[in-house]
Amino acid sequence: MQKQPIGIFDSGVGGTSIWREITATLPNEDTIYLADSKYAPYGKRPASEIIELSSKNTEKLIDFGCKIIVVACNTATTNAIKALRLKYKLPFIGIEPAIKPAAIRTQTKKVGVLATKGTLSSKLFAKTSDLYTGNIELIEVIGTGLVELIEEGKINSPEMHKLLSLYIQPMVKKNIDYLVLGCSHYPYLIPLLRQMLPNHVTIIDSGQAVARQTKAILQKYTLLNPDRKPGTHTLFTNGNLFSLQEILKPNLVDYSVSGLRF
Ligand code: DGL
Repeated sequence: MQKQPIGIFDSGVGGTSIWREITATLPNEDTIYLADSKYAPYGKRPASEIIELSSKNTEKLIDFGCKIIVVACNTATTNAIKALRLKYKLPFIGIEPAIKPAAIRTQTKKVGVLATKGTLSSKLFAKTSDLYTGNIELIEVIGTGLVELIEEGKINSPEMHKLLSLYIQPMVKKNIDYLVLGCSHYPYLIPLLRQMLPNHVTIIDSGQAVARQTKAILQKYTLLNPDRKPGTHTLFTNGNLFSLQEILKPNLVDYSVSGLRF
């Protein structure tokens, strides 16, 4: 089992931001990534559909022999990870908006959270924010349309500038000093966000924490690959191949990208 790949899925190309962190933290592990772009965005769907789609992706990764599954999607984690853990026997790693570190460090006591409707309205998000934000105001904004633009490769487009500045304004007005990115597509917007946000605002995403947690769980179950050679990386999409190829540039590891029906 140790030599089997790590399976990673997202509603689309955005979870490659997590895949990048995993390949950097675990250079000897093989990975298989599924971009479920055909069904993106998940954020608009009811929880029951998100569970169905997440199960479909999990079963595909199990067919590929994966030893662990990383749900590289906040929307799928917050809506479906509980159901996945009940249904399948292998370990799952999820990703949630990193509210805790922002809540601990904020000086202004105002923290912005940019995420999908599916994440912000989930029970798991409500539970986490209740737990950590006693005396802190969370300014939650739904990033409507951002995932679609990233899926279309329009990261630097005028539409993206317009939408993003619209979403950031209420947070800046409230004097946030931390912005939590609650969607694995959004780390690709950090260069743009940096141009828009005042310098004192720190942006937090969960990619590195997910990679560290994946390593810890592989260690715990003695599932780390003992090989010393660099891992192989295969990424599949059921949507636009070009979008996946483009978002992966530039990259430090070798990988292959193909289309697949799932
Ligand atoms: N990358 C997904 C997430 O982290 C995008 C959500 C969506 O498909 O709406 O939530």
